[in-house]
Amino acid sequence: METKKIILDCDPGMDDSMAIVMAVKSPKLDVMAVTTVNGNYPVDVTCINARKVLELLNRTDIPVARGMANPIIRKSPSDPFTHGKDGQAEAFLPDPKIPLSKLDAVDLIIETVKANPGEVTLVSTGPMSNIAMAMIKAPEIKDMIPEIIAISGAFGLNDYAFLNATGDTPQSEWNVYVDPEAAKIVYESGVKLVCLGLDVATYFDVNFSDADIARLEKSDKPEAKFLLNAIHFVNGRGFDAYCTVIDCMAVAYAIDNTLVETMDAHVGVETKDGLTLGMTVIDRRHHFVWEHLPFIKVGRKADCGRFLGLLMDLVLA
Ligand code: BDR
Ligand code: CA
Repeated sequence: METKKIILDCDPGMDDSMAIVMAVKSPKLDVMAVTTVNGNYPVDVTCINARKVLELLNRTDIPVARGMANPIIRKSPSDPFTHGKDGQAEAFLPDPKIPLSKLDAVDLIIETVKANPGEVTLVSTGPMSNIAMAMIKAPEIKDMIPEIIAISGAFGLNDYAFLNATGDTPQSEWNVYVDPEAAKIVYESGVKLVCLGLDVATYFDVNFSDADIARLEKSDKPEAKFLLNAIHFVNGRGFDAYCTVIDCMAVAYAIDNTLVETMDAHVGVETKDGLTLGMTVIDRRHHFVWEHLPFIKVGRKADCGRFLGLLMDLVLA
């Protein structure tokens, strides 16, 4: 079977951890590296957590590289939504034994893309600091990246976009809010960009049924136990279970792009402080549209049933 090469750039995070599980277990993907970034937690924690998940899956062959400790130019905000003391819904997995890659995340992205021109899709489930820095350091890679699939933005295409806003302003999504300058660089890079925002990644329909929970309970797979624990953790704090798998939507799209319907749109990233910092402003006007804004693909509707089916199959496989 032909596989798609990906680098998963993430900030685990419980849902990033589940995204790693899905990506690594999918026979359709070849995970060339996991690169970590500051976001949900400081980068020292996210690179520990990424390795914990790979050890849980016995995939210690996949390199993990430590990335940017801070956004491109600003200080990192603290997350209003906590992923628990360990950043993994308090699963407290064993400390990792595998060493980090000798290359940092930015250089590993650059080297991997250059060694496989036109072949490596970047899947981004954290702030875009590493990817933007790689583009600054080696602009030539922009022509070598076939696609970036990102959990990024909130486009106001349905109620979820703003009801479930994760950034610390009323209409921003966390990954863009943390490093809006990085997002702006990537949105404006000219690389094909698919942004799956809160519109599609935070549907309440992404919640697990009683039958799903029963299947997870019956499984002896550690990754099923991890997910179950995360669901109980978020439910116990008054959140819905979709919070445990937001980032999985990007991996699911990398596996099967018919799972999310997208539209092409001009989108600008707000980098000014204040009420709208980190907002992804979509220009859908019939007339006078701002064509200077980058033209990207934006998720408008997800097939939540098929998404959950794929997720459950991979977790239990
Ligand atoms: C994003 O915010 C983080 O908390 C999640 O891991 C996800 O990447 C959603 O806005
Ligand atoms: Ca994330």
